[in-house]
Amino acid sequence: MARTVWDSTVGKKTVMAVSGLIMLLYLIVHMYGNLKIFFGAGDFNHYAHWLRTIGEPFMHYEWTLWVIRVVLVVAVVAHAVSAYQLSRRDIKARPAKYVHSRPRASYATRTMRWGGVILGLFIVWHILDLTTGTVHSGGFQEGHPYQNVVDTFSTWYGNVIYIVAMLALGLHIRHGFFSAAQTLGVGSRRRDFALKTVANVLALLLTAGFIAVPVGVMTGVVS
Ligand code: HEM
Repeated sequence: MARTVWDSTVGKKTVMAVSGLIMLLYLIVHMYGNLKIFFGAGDFNHYAHWLRTIGEPFMHYEWTLWVIRVVLVVAVVAHAVSAYQLSRRDIKARPAKYVHSRPRASYATRTMRWGGVILGLFIVWHILDLTTGTVHSGGFQEGHPYQNVVDTFSTWYGNVIYIVAMLALGLHIRHGFFSAAQTLGVGSRRRDFALKTVANVLALLLTAGFIAVPVGVMTGVVS
């Protein structure tokens, strides 16, 4: 049964929609949490510490965070694998004779594919930068995310990487949210306008909220 659903195009699209919505939920919370940087190092670092103690004493230190990490990794992998397989199917479905000068996939589809690749690379960079510190520009300090964030956005390439990724994120959410609603059967002629509006507002809020952090550091509001 699960195999049949997974093998179907609708099944893969459903996996994309559900995993996408899980990641969207995480991003809303993450963006909100990041804005605490404007309340100073104390608030921001305290918030980061709290993330590791959620559920205590029932949960051990960092256990809830690890549950969230596992859910996110499963969501990212499921999203990427089904996207890849759907695009292979899309390409194979066209007989070779049909190929002509016009691009095969629509503008939105191509943007989603490139956007997805950019975001996948960004997530790897971002974890190596601000979670493990492997590619971090300053002296990475575990438990001091405020200073780490300031260091990241004190380099030109840090700002470029994050801002480009956040713009890609906005475009990806704008189209992805609407597609997910269609796949899950929420769309209808009457509701599509409202769904597009929600998609636009979400994309704009997330992009602006995330970009506020590098802009805050660049302008000296956060230092
Ligand atoms: C300007 C934008 C962003 C800033 C300033 C930022 C900041 C941070 C910081 C400081 C951490 C480490 C938190 C800690 O150790 O307590 C973190 C972790 C993380 N961020 Fe972001 N983030 C941004 C955008 C994003 C985006 C767009 C995504 C997803 C597409 C994302 C996904 C993650 C993930 C998965 C983690 C790892 C959580 C963990 O396992 O500890 N972030 N971010």
